[in-house]
Amino acid sequence: MSADPTQRAAGPVLEVTDLEVHYGSRRRRRRALHGVSLSIAPGETVGIIGETGSGKSTLARAALGLVRASGGSIVVDGEEVAAYGHRQWRALRRRGVVQYVFQDPLRSLDPDVTIEASLAEPLLIQGVSPQEAATRVRAFLDRVRLSGDLLDRLPSELSGGQRQRVAVARALVTEPRLVILDEPVSALDSANRVQILQILKELRTEGVALVFISHDLGSVAGVADRIAVLYQGELVETGAAADVINQPQHVYTRLLVRSAPTLHGAAAGRAEREALRALLHA
Ligand SMILES: Nc1ncnc2c1ncn2[C@@H]1O[C@H](COP(=O)(O)OP(=O)(O)O)[C@@H](O)[C@H]1O
Ligand SMILES: [Mg+2]
Repeated sequence: MSADPTQRAAGPVLEVTDLEVHYGSRRRRRRALHGVSLSIAPGETVGIIGETGSGKSTLARAALGLVRASGGSIVVDGEEVAAYGHRQWRALRRRGVVQYVFQDPLRSLDPDVTIEASLAEPLLIQGVSPQEAATRVRAFLDRVRLSGDLLDRLPSELSGGQRQRVAVARALVTEPRLVILDEPVSALDSANRVQILQILKELRTEGVALVFISHDLGSVAGVADRIAVLYQGELVETGAAADVINQPQHVYTRLLVRSAPTLHGAAAGRAEREALRALLHA
């Protein structure tokens, strides 16, 4: 179904143009995103980085129809969706073009449903037979380093790292065109973080586009083809990952690069960070 290449549009899987998102009531509107434009090609991995409150999750939610755009355009797999209502978004999500993984896997996993049923559900929604779904779920486990013994457990009977691997498997088992991962490793310890990053790197080669959101440049650096930097609701820099890391253009990106401990072995000194912050807010 969704894996049939003849049914897939050739253009970007996601194209956001001049996106505006506001929160709050009409009288007390707060702007969360302003003039954001970003295009994601099939099979590409794009990292979106920025500090807490910069609008990363808002961008993810807008692309998933979980928050409404107040301006601009969002094209998913060739379809203009910015003005879609709940029912149209639901229909689009059911088609399985875009899947998602959140920071807390408990948000994407039903606590009363076994891991096996949770993994089969997106396939069943797409009309795959129960037998075929069971086969595909088992075939997918290796790719996310999960053992078959876990299938009859509940989410509460798994570790945090295992749960997040289940959430990644659930998002990818239908072979969607795009998976949006919002801080997928931020709640994990470093061993689990490394493992998920490795899994994402491997999955990256399989034709699924990934949008990998993180406040940590170090996590994104080894996985993303391109990196986009959000600062106070605006994209201040977008480029090939190596360029953004080695020749950051915007002062805020420079701050991120300097203060990413995993990129340099040690964090920049506190004085340096404060100096850069002062420069930014001058
Ligand atoms: N549901 C909401 N209602 C009101 N303001 C919100 C809501 N969600 C986020 N915001 C605000 O929008 C801005 C961007 O938030 P968010 O997209 O969550 O940033 P990030 O994911 O980068 O931390 C912040 O100022 C935040 O306080
Ligand atoms: Mg967030």
